[in-house]
Amino acid sequence: MRSHYCTDLSKDDIGKEVLICGWVNSYRDHGGIIFIDLRDRTGLLQLVCDPADSKESYKIANTVRNEFVLKAKGRVRARGEGLTNPKLKTGEIEVVVDELKIENPSKALPFVLGDKEVGEETRLKYRFLDLRTPENFERFKMRSKAAMACRNALDRLGFVEVETPILTKATPEGARDYLVPSRVYNGEFYALPQSPQLFKQLLMCAGFDKYFQIAKCFRDEDLRADRQPEFTQIDIEMSFCEQKDVMKVGEEVLKDIFKACGYEVNTPFPIMTYKDATEIYGSDKPDLRYDLKMVDVDDVFEKCSNEIFTKIASDKKRNRIKALRVPNGDNIFSKRQMKGFEDFVRKFGASGLAFIQVKEDGLKGPLVKFFEDAPEALDELVKRCELEVGDVVFFGAGKKKVVLDYMGRFRIFLANEMGIIDQNKMEFLWVIDFPMFEENDDGSYSAMHHPFTMPNNIDDDIDDITSVAYDVVLNGVELGGGSIRIHKNDIQQKVFAKLGINETEQRDKFGFLLDALSFGAPPHGGIAIGFDRLIMLATKSSSIRDVIAFPKTQRAQCPMTKAPSKASDEQLKELGLRVIKKENK
Ligand code: AMO
Repeated sequence: MRSHYCTDLSKDDIGKEVLICGWVNSYRDHGGIIFIDLRDRTGLLQLVCDPADSKESYKIANTVRNEFVLKAKGRVRARGEGLTNPKLKTGEIEVVVDELKIENPSKALPFVLGDKEVGEETRLKYRFLDLRTPENFERFKMRSKAAMACRNALDRLGFVEVETPILTKATPEGARDYLVPSRVYNGEFYALPQSPQLFKQLLMCAGFDKYFQIAKCFRDEDLRADRQPEFTQIDIEMSFCEQKDVMKVGEEVLKDIFKACGYEVNTPFPIMTYKDATEIYGSDKPDLRYDLKMVDVDDVFEKCSNEIFTKIASDKKRNRIKALRVPNGDNIFSKRQMKGFEDFVRKFGASGLAFIQVKEDGLKGPLVKFFEDAPEALDELVKRCELEVGDVVFFGAGKKKVVLDYMGRFRIFLANEMGIIDQNKMEFLWVIDFPMFEENDDGSYSAMHHPFTMPNNIDDDIDDITSVAYDVVLNGVELGGGSIRIHKNDIQQKVFAKLGINETEQRDKFGFLLDALSFGAPPHGGIAIGFDRLIMLATKSSSIRDVIAFPKTQRAQCPMTKAPSKASDEQLKELGLRVIKKENK
């Protein structure tokens, strides 16, 4: 066994006999002496193999190549004058080798470790090599510390960790299920859990009172930089609680986890309603690291002489006209750039993007002429948007949902263009008062969180029903979500009915839940925090894949194991399955 990791050693260890193990990061021969940079999970350490100290070790050192696995016994000494390397943690010392053993040679690697230019497919194919860099190891060390801090915090708060099934029935969270065919019951399938949602509610019905789990979840959905088909949640549920109690637990856990990751987080987090988040920031997960805000200007445009705008302004329920002020924007962007921004918003359904520049001699831009007969409306615009000379203000107009969406995206785009995002900030936020349902394109409705969320006003018009649901947002990323649950059978059935799930289907899919709710279910609620997303943000990684040891590609494949892969005829027969090829494949 080693006596030290490479970077455990420092000037304080000079003179010590040590045993070091690791991989050859690089080697060079300098005038008959071989220098090896040995690497382990902590970093690099220089070994010196001098025939004057040990002929045998020098002979062996002559045969090493990159990534050979070595064990070296030797003595720590200070590097010579002018030979120190301030870039290395161990740059002031080296180990003079007495005994060297090659534990295992290595073929030449398919890529240079840490090379950012190497394609992800290749890196994932050889993920065990990709993970060899100390930089990558640090992410997983932090992940482990975070999980430990999470468990400690929840243990302290009286929560008990319980594992729930992986082979189970559908647990709807808005994605497709991964199905596992049953050999014993041909034609029947288990579903992998999209979350432990139903089981944690059943544990509340069992009287466990405070549950948590660092739980694997599986969702077959379109993948993005912050989504994987298989991911981990910090899943929490508690009984006899209100929204504020769950939020307090969430804050405490996050505070401790982030502390373990080296951040001081202030609690309580600010709270914003869903309505404000979407109307002011065009997103239900606003990034508050920068201060670009939208205001309503429907009434201002109602007074202009442009028919397109007055028509949009006349239907306040369905439409929006939003102004987004960019302080000093007229000095930052050229007029050409401003015109070019239209291409960005068009991708998200905008029909155009008007803007007004605030010059020394007044407001400028093609829209201004439509206010010739209503100068007071322009004065109101200046007042409401708090416009100052040098600013530019952009306008989005059209269907409410579309305008809020593209203006929200445009806000993020502008912040990136202007470089105003402070990458060192951690801006947490609670978003509350979510609508219970959202309308799909085909006119049907889905639950915005999930169908087990307690509605505030179930008997109202479906569009007006809100829920006791909350999301925790960090730097514009949805970190977690939760709600107070329905603990009464009749309300649960009403929600299912609004979602178009008839009684037979209710019994078939969720009979066990409805039963549990009718046997003395306590009021309860909870939250789930995306653990991979959390680590992605805490390690400032650009993709969730960087913080998952063996992630899938954006196309849900594993280039290393080649999963998913075909089943043998034998297996298919046992499972009673026949594969029908999709025609368009
Ligand atoms: P929700 O679906 O909002 O809630 O998920 C909670 C959190 O899990 C993370 N997450 C994901 N992370 C990576 N890849 C994915 N595909 C993915 N999907 C979700 C997000 C998200 O905020 N049962 C409820 C929680 C509850 O109500 O208690 C649930 O799963 O960070």
